[in-house]
Amino acid sequence: MRQPLVAGNWKLNGSNASIEALLNAIIEGSTALDKVAVAVCAPYVYLPGVNDLLQRHLSSIRLGAQDVSEHSAGAYTGEVSAAMLQEFGCSYVLVGHSERRALFGEHDADSANKFAAARRQGLTPILCVGETLAEREQGATEAVVARQLDAVITLTGVVSLADAVIAYEPVWAIGTGKTASPQQAQDVHAFIRSKLAEADTAVANGVQILYGGSVKGANAAELFAMADIDGGLIGGASLDAQDFLAICEAGNNA
Ligand code: 13P
Repeated sequence: MRQPLVAGNWKLNGSNASIEALLNAIIEGSTALDKVAVAVCAPYVYLPGVNDLLQRHLSSIRLGAQDVSEHSAGAYTGEVSAAMLQEFGCSYVLVGHSERRALFGEHDADSANKFAAARRQGLTPILCVGETLAEREQGATEAVVARQLDAVITLTGVVSLADAVIAYEPVWAIGTGKTASPQQAQDVHAFIRSKLAEADTAVANGVQILYGGSVKGANAAELFAMADIDGGLIGGASLDAQDFLAICEAGNNA
């Protein structure tokens, strides 16, 4: 039985004051949720503050970063290593988010290297995969997702996905208000699991596969009810404590 996970991706949002208020509300509202794992992925500079606040409240909410360097140290101005993230309490890190891929030129091989860097340091990577609208319309969804997964499997082996997290985020559903239907999402999640099962059934059965793309309190329960959807990666709605908590509750009841 896979534990449901709901992770918030705050993206490039927040201030000291707004993040403290948001986090306090999420901490308070999530104390009774005992089945779902909850995580928040904060911008780098807020990680120490968020970590302190979580520790002060003895909160079970886990901390994640939104990106990581593929390098462990050296002349890479602006980069942040997996070891640094771990020092500030991160247990998760997003890898290969579609915004990194589309806006910052990150290729499959770069994402795979970041995945490997996270794993080497004992962080749990949340590997983001998903197709654009054009790719879906061309019937290329499975090919695109397979290619993105294969980059990681080729570099680090399928076993590196054991206890990792995969997030299926169709690009056309991110920030658009256009959610994939539960069946559309389930179809891709089932494809991902069956693809992994060809290499290793234990890994396929154990890996958590999250859905992301316009998840809200109002649609979370029907998505999380699908057999291969193990929770969600939440963008916009994670900035609203009440909406995020409603999603966490749906995960807790899934
Ligand atoms: P939205 O929930 O705002 O569509 O964003 C999804 C996402 O990109 C999470 O990583």
